[in-house]
Amino acid sequence: MNWERLDTYAHLSDRAASILLDAIRTDPHAVLGLPTGRTPVGMYDCVITECTHNYHCFRDVRTFNLDEYVGIPHDHPGSYAAYMEQHLFEFIDINPANAHIPDGAARDPRAECVRYEAAIRDAGGLGLTFLGLGRNSHIGFNEPGTPFTSRTRVVELSESTRIANEDLFADHKVPTRAITMGIGTILESRRIVLLASGANKREAVERLRSGIVEESFPASALWGHPDVTVLVSD
Ligand code: GLP
Repeated sequence: MNWERLDTYAHLSDRAASILLDAIRTDPHAVLGLPTGRTPVGMYDCVITECTHNYHCFRDVRTFNLDEYVGIPHDHPGSYAAYMEQHLFEFIDINPANAHIPDGAARDPRAECVRYEAAIRDAGGLGLTFLGLGRNSHIGFNEPGTPFTSRTRVVELSESTRIANEDLFADHKVPTRAITMGIGTILESRRIVLLASGANKREAVERLRSGIVEESFPASALWGHPDVTVLVSD
């Protein structure tokens, strides 16, 4: 596991964006795993700025988001589909057919999970996946106790995760379930970059750094992967 400490959130965002842009420059058909949450907002801003100044082509890039809430439509302002539109997709030349997000409004969410796994497989698997870190160390929406072999599935969100994401819902009504890539799905990505910033992540970061691997601490699964970079800032 490679650790990089950046002195500010702005530098962390800049570094993450340059990893992403290098990847699509090297391979214009790159397959990216993408996160949501507050942490990657700066990375997406830097990607957009770079793309405006210095053209970067997303035309053949395929993206797979890590997760989505169940029971809300794509255009709900709290959905991760709306988040991705607002923070990235609206500003880049990605083909909408290549930008995948689990359909949280699917009539059969379990079938949607099977379809999503197959879509990742059909794309040749994830090449480079960015992750945020939950305060309780969740990755995607894989809460503590998730088996490291888990695949894309429907999960119940923990109370603490729902509270942490409450302000993203105007009515504070955070859905109780989500579709998330499994830890096993994430670990098959050829390269992984984890972003963690801020005092509220310090404890989870220190625990990850300790190297103790256990299912009660989902991010520790990353120790089993050969190419992980952790970008940390205050
Ligand atoms: C949500 C997302 C995670 C994300 C986490 C941390 O629960 N499902 O993928 O990593 O929040 O978010 P933040 O960056 O806002 O702290």
